[in-house]
Amino acid sequence: MTVATTLFKGTSFLRAKRDTLLAIKKAKGSITSVKKSSSSLLAQTAKELSELRGRPLFYPALLSGIGNGALVELLDGSVKYDFITGIGTHFFGHSDLDLIGVALEAASQNVAMQGNLQSGPELKDFFFFLLKMAGAPLKYGWLATSGTDANETALKIIRHKKTPAYKIIAFKNCFHGRTLIMADLTDQDAYRKGLHRYHDAYYVPFFDSNDPTSIEKSEIALKDLLVQHKSEIGGFVFELIQGEGGFNPAPSEFFKRLMTICKEANIAVWVDEIQTAGRTGELFAFQKLGLQNYVDIVTVGKMLQNCATLYTEAYNPQAGLLAGTFAGTTVSLAVGKRILERLKEEKFFGKNGKIAQIEKWVLSGLKNLQKEVGEETISHIGVLGTMVSFQFRKGELEETKKLILTLFEEGVMTFYCGRGPYKVRFLLPGGVITQKEFEKALTLVKKTMQRME
Ligand SMILES: Cc1ncc(COP(=O)(O)O)c(C=O)c1O
Repeated sequence: MTVATTLFKGTSFLRAKRDTLLAIKKAKGSITSVKKSSSSLLAQTAKELSELRGRPLFYPALLSGIGNGALVELLDGSVKYDFITGIGTHFFGHSDLDLIGVALEAASQNVAMQGNLQSGPELKDFFFFLLKMAGAPLKYGWLATSGTDANETALKIIRHKKTPAYKIIAFKNCFHGRTLIMADLTDQDAYRKGLHRYHDAYYVPFFDSNDPTSIEKSEIALKDLLVQHKSEIGGFVFELIQGEGGFNPAPSEFFKRLMTICKEANIAVWVDEIQTAGRTGELFAFQKLGLQNYVDIVTVGKMLQNCATLYTEAYNPQAGLLAGTFAGTTVSLAVGKRILERLKEEKFFGKNGKIAQIEKWVLSGLKNLQKEVGEETISHIGVLGTMVSFQFRKGELEETKKLILTLFEEGVMTFYCGRGPYKVRFLLPGGVITQKEFEKALTLVKKTMQRME
C-alpha cells in the first residue's frame, strides 16, 4: 500500500471529494435554461483578453466554470446552449460529475504535467484503452501537445521510414493544423499568408457528391502523381470528413479505392481523426467506413482531451526520433481514459448506438426547421453523427458570421466551417444532449433567423 493509495482511497479524501461533488451538483441544478445578463463583466474581460492577444475574440465565450449538460454559464452569469463545445472538446457537456470526480483525484496529485521521463499510470491507462479500441494494426501511441503537433509526429515518422521520400499527398480543401509545415500542407491560402512555402504537398480532389465521376477523377489524379513523383512521396493524409473545410463526407468506396492505390505504391496511409474521433458513430471514422485494413497512422485530439499519434509496428520509429519534456496533464489523461470507457460502456457506438439515434433526431429537427423557414433560408443540411452543419441562405461568410453572432446573443453557441459556401456548424455535446433540448435550441435558431429578415 503506497502513501498515495492510502491518501486517495482514504476516508478524508473521499469525503472531501464527495462534498465537493455534492456542492457542484447542487449549484449546477440551478442552471436549467438559457439566461441573459446585463453585467458588463463578460464584455470587459473579453476586451482585456483581446488586447492581450492582439486581436478580438470571435465572440466572448468566456466560461464561468460551471454548466449543466448542454448548458453553460458564462462569466457574466448568462447561460447558453453550447453546440460547439470549444470546437469539439466537451462531448459530455458541462459539469459532468463523473468526469469532475476523476479530475479532482487527478488534480490532487503532485504533478500537473506528466513528462516523458516521469509519468504516472494515467499515461499507460489512456493508451491502453485508446489502442484497444483502435484495434489492429495500430499498436503504439505517442502523446502530443496539440492536434497539429500529433500531425507533425505523423509526418516525422513517415519521413523517417520512407526517407528520402518526404512529400505528402493531401486533399484539396484540407485542414491539418497550424505549425509551419501543417499550415503549408493545409489547403487554405489565408492560413499561410506571408509564410515561406515548403511545397511539400501534392493535392488530390476530395469527393464531390455532385459529380458521378468524382471517384475516378481522384483516382486518376493520385495515379498521375505517383507516375510523376513516386520517389518523392512518402504518404497520403486523409481527412475522412473534411472538418474546417465544410463537414464534407465521402463514401467508403472513395477512400478504399485511393487507399488501395497507396498500398500498392507502398506509401503510408495516414488518417487525421482529430475532429472526427468519437463523433461519427464509431470511435474512429475509419472504423465506421471499414478502412481498418488500410491505416498505418492515425492522429487524434479534441474530445479525447489529449492529442496523440497512433501507428503500426512497421512505423514505430527508432529511439531518439520522438521525445519532449511533457507528455500530457494528469487531469487530461485521467479524464481522457474515463471518456473512452464511457463511450463504450454507455453504448454510443454501433448501428443502434446513441450517436446513431442522435443523428436521426437532429436531422429530423433541422428538416422541420427548414420546412418552417424555407429552403431559401436553410439551403443545405448535413448531419454526420454529432458533426452537424447547415447552410444559411447562400452561405456567404458575412451573413453566416452575423447569424452565429446573433445566435450567440440569443443563447446558442455555434461556429462556422467551409470555404464558400460557408456553413453554420455544431459539434454537439452528444454525451448529454436530449432531443427536447435540441428542439428548444432550434426555436432560438428560428427566432434568430427571423431577427435577420
Ligand atoms: C482535421 C484536423 N486536423 C488538425 C487539427 C488541428 O488541431 P489543433 O487545433 O488541436 O492543433 C484540427 C483542428 O481543428 C482538425 O480539425
